[in-house]
Amino acid sequence: MKNIRNFCIIAHIDHGKSTLADRLLDATQTVTAREQQNQLLDSMDLERERGITIKSHAIQMEYEYKGEKYILNLIDTPGHVDFSYEVSRSIAACEGALLIVDAAQSIQAQTISNLYLALENDLTIIPVLNKIDLPSANPEEVSDDIVNLLGCDYEEIIPASGKTGLGVEDILAAIIERVPAPKGNPDEPLQALIFDSVYNPFRGIEVIFRVINGKITKGQKVKFMATGKEYFADEIGTLKLTQAPKKEILTGDVGYLISGIKEAREVKVGDTITDSKNPTQNMIEGFENVKPMVFAGIYPVDTEDYEELRASMEKLQLNDASLVFAAESSAALGFGFRCGFLGMLHMEIIQERLEREFNMTVITTVPNVSYLAYTKKEPEKSFVVNNPSDLPEPSRLDRVEEPFIKATIITKADFVGQVMSLCIEKRGLITNQTYLTEDRVELMFDMPLAEIVFDFYDRLKTVSKGYASFDYHPIGMRTSNLVKVDVMLNGNVVDALSALIHADNAYNIGKKMCEKLKELIPRQQFDIPIQAAIGAKIISRETVKALRKDVTAKCYGGDISRKRKLLEKQKAGKKRMRQVGNVEIPQEAFMAVLKLN
Ligand code: GTP
Repeated sequence: MKNIRNFCIIAHIDHGKSTLADRLLDATQTVTAREQQNQLLDSMDLERERGITIKSHAIQMEYEYKGEKYILNLIDTPGHVDFSYEVSRSIAACEGALLIVDAAQSIQAQTISNLYLALENDLTIIPVLNKIDLPSANPEEVSDDIVNLLGCDYEEIIPASGKTGLGVEDILAAIIERVPAPKGNPDEPLQALIFDSVYNPFRGIEVIFRVINGKITKGQKVKFMATGKEYFADEIGTLKLTQAPKKEILTGDVGYLISGIKEAREVKVGDTITDSKNPTQNMIEGFENVKPMVFAGIYPVDTEDYEELRASMEKLQLNDASLVFAAESSAALGFGFRCGFLGMLHMEIIQERLEREFNMTVITTVPNVSYLAYTKKEPEKSFVVNNPSDLPEPSRLDRVEEPFIKATIITKADFVGQVMSLCIEKRGLITNQTYLTEDRVELMFDMPLAEIVFDFYDRLKTVSKGYASFDYHPIGMRTSNLVKVDVMLNGNVVDALSALIHADNAYNIGKKMCEKLKELIPRQQFDIPIQAAIGAKIISRETVKALRKDVTAKCYGGDISRKRKLLEKQKAGKKRMRQVGNVEIPQEAFMAVLKLN
């Protein structure tokens, strides 16, 4: 135990976490030349393409230092706010963290919010000044920022470059010298923290854990405390680049467990594994059931594909427990599913996986958050609303609560004004403003989550000319004055276009929605009135004018290939059209409310 070190890496996106992790694997010869590939830890194709770490994994390295052998467990953490609960559990499995700061970019929002998580868990922080090979690196100033943030000495900061390999030996030495060895008690009943799980289509779910007390032995009957389920530890081992089966995993170490579990749902990150015969009395603190934060309808473009879509979603859920879905029907879109996601990125990933892995073509409706509606009747009743069109009539409704977040934004002093105006427009309340340096400001806001879902990132990027970083954490439900804005096409309410909007903005947003829909809905043989309404009250109106001429007429008959091209283009466009009443609506229209500016 005294020669084990468990650590993670915290860094803002693109500050070089994966590259540096690869260098550590090289230096400890964990990777053979044949296995060497860039960014080994990002194994999912999608992750590689997007250049972000979606799923966390662990990897074990061996390293000899001053004549002694050490085991270094690197616990990778996902780099996106959607997965912040997983980050918190990975951090809870470590004693130390490398804090990687890009020497050109300095400290960003994600650095800070993950640093706070690490400090709450009493982790030893090793600051690393990365990418010092860059011509634009600014090591002195960024070192000042780090010292200000951590209150550490300048000598503690390790200059490094994942590109040239500089500083890698110093980092390994610091992990051994500064990070404390794990503390658990080998004689106590087994207590292991599940901090990740990986789906393997052949072997079932692989559970990744850290032993806090006691040990786990091959063949042992174990119990997962939160779910109450019991399994035999058919195979246990440590994670090198491939799995290395072992007879036992001892106190303080990290390993995997395979016991034929087929469904991701049975394995909850944050759960405690214990011995069935001699169980511990205490679950490891901090367990939470992850709740989806963002909801949207997913419908097959072709109504006949409904059953196939259901089968695909069930398969996806086997390896992604955080995806939830329930059948729903929409007057406009027919039969489909209301799906819950951890966040917007998670939603995009699911959509993409449905298309790539299952070959489905789907229509996704405007995402919304989960509301809590209270009706007026005595006794007061509350219920969860995951679809705006399920909101009770205004006459029956007493109030609505929506989820709020604490947002951290770091930007340049020059942009504070614009960033503040944007946050205030998005119903944010400023709670803190700190100058990290003369030129860099940290702003904290309480904001409705719904406003982040609606085009916040893009606007923030624009108003700050790219010089703002952003992170958030949920802080609970708050009452808001929300109204349901409906959209009518040709006199019919299209339920899939309804949205809950703050009363103060409803008129303005209803108007913009009509304007946007007018742009997006193709002309047809007749006029299409587009109206926005709150209850029976029409608040805005536009019209898509009837088509007068044949669309191909403007090609003047002569050029046949051009004509064909145009027709083909229309056909491709049709793929994602939905006929609602007698109006054809393209997929973009269902997302129109997201792109109003
Ligand atoms: P996420 O996983 O998306 O959070 O990113 P990351 O922090 O893992 O960053 P990654 O290692 O993917 O590096 C981001 C970019 O910076 C890549 O284009 C790397 O090639 C580059 N990069 C990483 N480390 C260095 C370095 O030390 N010097 C230079 N010049 N570039 C680097």
